[in-house]
Amino acid sequence: MGDMEVTRKEEARAEIKIWNYMLGYVKIAVVKCAIELGIADVIENYGSPMPLSELATALRCEPSRLHRIMRFMVHYRIFKQEHINHHTVGFSSTPLSRLLIKGGEKSMVAFILFVSSPTWLAPWHSLSARVLETGNDISPFEVANGKDLWSYAEANPDFSELFNNAMGCDARLTVQATIEGCPEVFDGVKSLVDVGGGNGTALSLLVKAFPWIRGINFDLPHVVAVAPKSDSIENVGGDMFMSIPNADAAFLMWVLHDWDDEECIKILKKMSRSHSRR
Ligand SMILES: C[S@@+](CC[C@H](N)C(=O)[O-])C[C@H]1O[C@@H](n2cnc3c(N)ncnc32)[C@H](O)[C@@H]1O
Repeated sequence: MGDMEVTRKEEARAEIKIWNYMLGYVKIAVVKCAIELGIADVIENYGSPMPLSELATALRCEPSRLHRIMRFMVHYRIFKQEHINHHTVGFSSTPLSRLLIKGGEKSMVAFILFVSSPTWLAPWHSLSARVLETGNDISPFEVANGKDLWSYAEANPDFSELFNNAMGCDARLTVQATIEGCPEVFDGVKSLVDVGGGNGTALSLLVKAFPWIRGINFDLPHVVAVAPKSDSIENVGGDMFMSIPNADAAFLMWVLHDWDDEECIKILKKMSRSHSRR
């Protein structure tokens, strides 16, 4: 193949790829739409390939519009399309569509609704401004939404719930891996404080797996005020830069990435003073 031909092929591939970049938002928009309509839940409950007409009736949707959404998701293998008979096809669940079931054990619904929310997407529209500017430490989130993430969550309970539920999605997956992968870490730990523990999802899984542990879910006051209550977990509100409740051990997940090095050192110092493990 000559150089000219290689260049032409590369250019042709680039012309295809640019459409993928340009319309990249469509994937998340369709997945969000599927979640809001409850498509994965209805198809899973149906139990066999579900014809479009029945799906449209169950969801009270306009069939031809729903068809376009389903065609897109079949293309991306979110759902399977199977023949029911010579004339009719039906849609079935896949491992991917099961992640879109509300309340499912491995559900990613809350995380998807969070990352596709207007509040979370707004800062991405000014990414170039962030790269260009120097000496300005105001986060893109604050520039777009008028407050830093934690103050915004405090002032907007619906967003706070969206955020905490999203964190819970991830916690259900990662904490299970921790429980299975290194249970010995929790031997002899009578009390455990989860620093920045959100709505307590991680801690509730840990105390269930290791029932000898008394859990302390520590987070900002507005977060713990609405966290689920349980006998084995105490919810404590506060500021981790000021002080952290005492416990045998402290647990930290998805927190340090939010802070710069100096702030991380402050948090870790407060943590080391808060636990008195033998
Ligand atoms: C990215 S979330 C992680 C939540 C949880 N650890 C998880 O992985 O699911 C960070 C958490 O830090 C909490 N947080 C932020 N600033 C805090 C502070 N000054 N003191 C205590 N918690 C704080 C937030 O409210 C939020 O719940």
